[in-house]
Amino acid sequence: MFESTVYSKRRQALRDKVGNGLILILGNNEAPANYPDNTYKFRQDSSFLYFFGHAHPGYAGILDADSGEDYFFGDDVTMDDIIWMGPQPSVKELAARVGIDKSFPFGKLKEVIGKAIAQRRKIHFLPPYRYDNMLLLEDLTGIRASLVRQHSSLELIKAVVALRSVKEPCEIEEIDKACNIGYEMHTAAMKLCKPGVSEQYITGVLDGIAASYGNMVSFATILSQNGQTLHNHDHSQILQAGRLMLTDAGAESTTNYCSDHTRTIPVGGKFTSRQRDVYSIVLACHDRALELARPGITYKSVHLEVCRVLAQGLKDLGLMKGNVEDAVAAGAHALFMPHGLGHMMGIDVHDMEDLGQCYVGYDDEVRPSKQFGLASLRMGRRLQEGFVITDEPGCYFIPDLIDKWRADKMHTDFLDFNAIDKYKDFGGIRLEDDILIIPGGSRFTGEKHIPITIEEVEEIMK
Ligand code: GLY
Ligand code: MN
Repeated sequence: MFESTVYSKRRQALRDKVGNGLILILGNNEAPANYPDNTYKFRQDSSFLYFFGHAHPGYAGILDADSGEDYFFGDDVTMDDIIWMGPQPSVKELAARVGIDKSFPFGKLKEVIGKAIAQRRKIHFLPPYRYDNMLLLEDLTGIRASLVRQHSSLELIKAVVALRSVKEPCEIEEIDKACNIGYEMHTAAMKLCKPGVSEQYITGVLDGIAASYGNMVSFATILSQNGQTLHNHDHSQILQAGRLMLTDAGAESTTNYCSDHTRTIPVGGKFTSRQRDVYSIVLACHDRALELARPGITYKSVHLEVCRVLAQGLKDLGLMKGNVEDAVAAGAHALFMPHGLGHMMGIDVHDMEDLGQCYVGYDDEVRPSKQFGLASLRMGRRLQEGFVITDEPGCYFIPDLIDKWRADKMHTDFLDFNAIDKYKDFGGIRLEDDILIIPGGSRFTGEKHIPITIEEVEEIMK
């Protein structure tokens, strides 16, 4: 946790932005895996962490935007809890640690919200994504659980996005720590990636490295020699010489800040010449984004420029043809890169995705697109100093998609399907780094840069 003043200042800023009413921020509860007492590892809600700091289940907070007061709700542990879990700080102590002097039993929450509703005061809450909190909101507000998301507060969403988007120095330090763990995970994968080793074994080692630093991975590890499947969580294959292994993995720091890196490496340690060709194109895309990313530029324009680098590279390789600018405008390159260049990162790996991507990655100026490929760009708006985003271009050969586009005669002016067919056994490449936007440019987060050039990768895999 940070100093208590960090949280007090954030809450003050939130009250100022929202202006009036009660702002209700619900923490998460334990989530049962297979019976109530056998729970998944607890993960606190990220907005609760941001404004109230505590990573324990069973709490809620209220910010009164009219009176300027904050309230913390939770139940003190019982003797039974102490016997099984050991002594725990009181709710009053927890509240004090984040600068709040008014704490109450959890049951009091209903009374406070009920009174405010009776006084016709506005209750602002964020869109819940866990069903128990949907049910709790129904109980507190009288709005049916199935409808509570629709009644979440747009003013609150926009205010939270404005605050959480720009990372404070203490947050950047935490992201750097998460990236240091990411470095260890990815370099371990590079050393283990040999023919005959199972994907599951390497995945387990990476998950263990993250856990050994106190928290879990920042999302379910993606690790596969079938990298053409963008989010491949099937780790059932045994690595084969000549294939590529794609690893997209990250960790959380002890304060739940995230890292998210992807590397694609040759099983056994040496790229083939065909792999070098495609890898060099993706690396050029990655580097072009780094050159361009700076305050004031829209990430949509960076994404589109990267797509032109990809299309030019694939044209040079004989897989695309025609005018590169027109090909990208038409969306033909999306056969190879059906996803966006990146997303925001912070206390969530896809930061604030629960609040709605159209508010996090877009604004009144830059609107989401419906075009295949571009529609998957999570972050399009103008970059600001203090944003942490990912730079993650890729190039994939997805046999089913290739067959479908060929059958549908899609973009035949720009795609040479006879040449593309020969790559259907290639797999996929993605290269991902996390970057902090700083004055005039960007910097990698974390102390050390995970090997990325062909030479660096082959060297560490020796
Ligand atoms: N690293 C997973 C993703 O960005 O979707
Ligand atoms: Mn990512």
